[in-house]
Amino acid sequence: MIILGIETSCDETSAAIVKNGRTVLSNVIASQVDVHAKFGGVVPEIAARKHIESIDYIVTEALQNAGLSLQEIGGFAVANGPGLAGALLVGLNYAKGLAYAHKKPLIGVHHIEAHVCANYLDESDLEPPFLALVVSGGHTSILAVKDYDTYEVLGSTRDDAAGEAFDKTARVLKLGYPGGPKIDKLAAEGNPLAVNFPKAKVEGFNFSFSGLKTAVMQFMAKNETVPVEDIAASFQKAVVDVLTERTIAASIQYGYKKIALAGGVACNRGLREGLKNACDENGIDLYIPKPIYCTDNAAMIACRGYYKLQAGHTDGWGLNAFPGRMV
Ligand code: KG4
Ligand code: ZN
Repeated sequence: MIILGIETSCDETSAAIVKNGRTVLSNVIASQVDVHAKFGGVVPEIAARKHIESIDYIVTEALQNAGLSLQEIGGFAVANGPGLAGALLVGLNYAKGLAYAHKKPLIGVHHIEAHVCANYLDESDLEPPFLALVVSGGHTSILAVKDYDTYEVLGSTRDDAAGEAFDKTARVLKLGYPGGPKIDKLAAEGNPLAVNFPKAKVEGFNFSFSGLKTAVMQFMAKNETVPVEDIAASFQKAVVDVLTERTIAASIQYGYKKIALAGGVACNRGLREGLKNACDENGIDLYIPKPIYCTDNAAMIACRGYYKLQAGHTDGWGLNAFPGRMV
């Protein structure tokens, strides 16, 4: 079964073709990051317009790279939320058009469920059940993934998402947008023990990151001479420590021996290393997708679409976008 996936929820236009849910035949991503950087963040209206300009070319390239024609596609999967409303509608309507014209199933995909599916791609042997830590620009959640279609949210952020904390702190440090990769790079040259930033204690397996951003802001106002590398490294350590500690605690409490990391912040070298060390100490297998499958991409959408189709789930032409946060 060959699925074409489409992703336009934020500032990446992507199309991918995936065979049997796991083998990526093509994955084309057009990033708009340069367009939005001068505004310090994603401008929703511009994002939607850029998706309209790119989508046709990106889908054509995905087909060419896979050496396939549209007639050979068995179903069209598209991220229909959460994300930016105008941006989501571009991909959704494009996918509807393709599915209608080729008389093939249309499958709406939850963007965050798709991030988890990035762990199934290429050579991965991961199968449920496992625990997932999803850390993206809009979400921070610990999920108990029971099978391909069932999961339980064990905890999520009470305020800022992990990626949001990286982006906002990078703004405080005057590093520009997008902040996550910039802090990651600087942190590698700094001392993570230089500043002991607070780690918010929240009930259960929930998180809170907004206080950390404020703490960095207050520290900067009082300590102008501390090198920015040290602040970046200390901030990153505070985020990584709390994510790692909570995830390991959840896996022990719920008896999971496999953890899968997902979302854009899964690219962070400090998090990859910190979680790996903690998993090794606790005899837990850790799965982390390649960086290209951690940030937004359509291969993960096609994968999620495949498993939904396997479970008999397809959508009608009335399928709408749901912009809001779901987990
Ligand atoms: O999953 P994603 O591509 O989009 C959303 O669904 O939100 O995640 C984007 C987020 C941004 O906040 C970005 O700063 C963060 O992932 N990010 C990183 C790194 N690479 C991307 N955060 C920390 N370290 C990185 N290396
Ligand atoms: Zn995402």
